[in-house]
Amino acid sequence: MEETSLLLILLVSGGLSTLPPHSREYHFVNQLMNWTEAQSYCREHFTDLVTIYNSNINQLLFSMSPRINDWAWTGLYNDRYSWKWSMERKLFYVGSTHEFLIWANGQPDCAYANEYCVALQGQTQMDDRPCGDSYPFLCYNAQNTSYILVMESRSWSAAQSYCRTYHTDLTSIRSKEEKSNITLTLNGSGVQYVWIGLYRDPWAPWSDNTTSTFTNWKISEPNNYGSTQYCVTMNLMAGIWSDSGCELRYNFFCFTAVTKQTVVKMKLQSEADMHSTEIQQQVSQQLSGLMLSEGLTDFRIRWRKVQSYRDDQSKKQDVDGGCKTEF
Ligand SMILES: *[C@@H]1O[C@H](CO)[C@@H](O)[C@H](O)[C@H]1NC(C)=O
Ligand SMILES: *[C@@H]1O[C@H](CO)[C@@H](O)[C@H](O)[C@H]1NC(C)=O
Ligand SMILES: *[C@@H]1O[C@H](CO)[C@@H](O)[C@H](O)[C@H]1NC(C)=O
Ligand SMILES: *[C@@H]1O[C@H](CO)[C@@H](O)[C@H](O)[C@H]1NC(C)=O
Ligand SMILES: *[C@@H]1O[C@H](CO)[C@@H](O)[C@H](O)[C@H]1NC(C)=O
Repeated sequence: MEETSLLLILLVSGGLSTLPPHSREYHFVNQLMNWTEAQSYCREHFTDLVTIYNSNINQLLFSMSPRINDWAWTGLYNDRYSWKWSMERKLFYVGSTHEFLIWANGQPDCAYANEYCVALQGQTQMDDRPCGDSYPFLCYNAQNTSYILVMESRSWSAAQSYCRTYHTDLTSIRSKEEKSNITLTLNGSGVQYVWIGLYRDPWAPWSDNTTSTFTNWKISEPNNYGSTQYCVTMNLMAGIWSDSGCELRYNFFCFTAVTKQTVVKMKLQSEADMHSTEIQQQVSQQLSGLMLSEGLTDFRIRWRKVQSYRDDQSKKQDVDGGCKTEF
């Protein structure tokens, strides 16, 4: 009697594109490098500088490092040029030099690590300011393409709400024409600072382009002391963080994204007709439920028909060859 069995193949993998933190391996690198060198080193030898998503990871990094009175780089940095327009909400890099978006002397300086919104200063040049400061502001109205100077002092986000309620949004400055119209609107108003729609997210993203809300700052950090501290270190005696000058040389933490794939072959014995697609679907569904309840979300289930061992010895090769491990 010909014996045919079915193999149910389960591919289980962890740590694909979404990179859940638990599928990372961490490394302490005992070499002194500046932040950009450390980043290159991690990207070359591992995956990237670390992102610290929670206190467990912070504790893990702390426990794997030596107890020396020094600091080590993490993947956190403060990108002074990662600006967005309120109206578009997507990244719009404003470099240190630009045709018509001109920073006032020494700006942006992210003073005290607390300046994430932009005002026009002296009516023409940009200055990053604390978002909580109250200034008059410039709205843009898309219906009649006009710029409206509101002479009430508000915080940046209150100004944004006002503009969104009564007009379109806080103004962008996307062309020379727009810039000169704005200059005209402001002319004679006497305003010293006026909010425009430029802002950025503090401390986001990390070197690997993911974001995390967890922080473990030392008291009174970050402070961007001397407006020179845009990269973040962990203290190796205490596990707490500080912003530091990116050009300084420290040890550092890297991670490797681990992609594990496990192939599970199951041989099922049943009175039921396992060749029936319906029954295969039922079994697959039950198995899926079981996997999900165990917290496994990244898996695939495949059925494979197998000739009986006795039936054809040479087919065995074929069966094994069918269970490819894919990375
Ligand atoms: C454009 O519309 C806004 C809102 O209605 C109004 O405040 C503003 O004065 C208008 N500007 C022009 C130039 O019509
Ligand atoms: C700005 O000024 C120019 C002329 O310099 C004009 O053509 C344009 O409509 C104005 N408005 C806006 C919204 O740019
Ligand atoms: C500002 O307005 C004054 C007159 O009110 C004018 O003389 C001057 O040229 C204007 N400046 C700009 C930059 O438009
Ligand atoms: C970083 O992530 C954002 C969205 O999360 C994406 O738009 C952007 O392209 C990414 N940048 C890089 C360099 O991967
Ligand atoms: C790190 O050092 C390299 C030279 O080895 C230099 O090119 C780079 O600008 C430095 N990075 C920082 C942030 O100072």
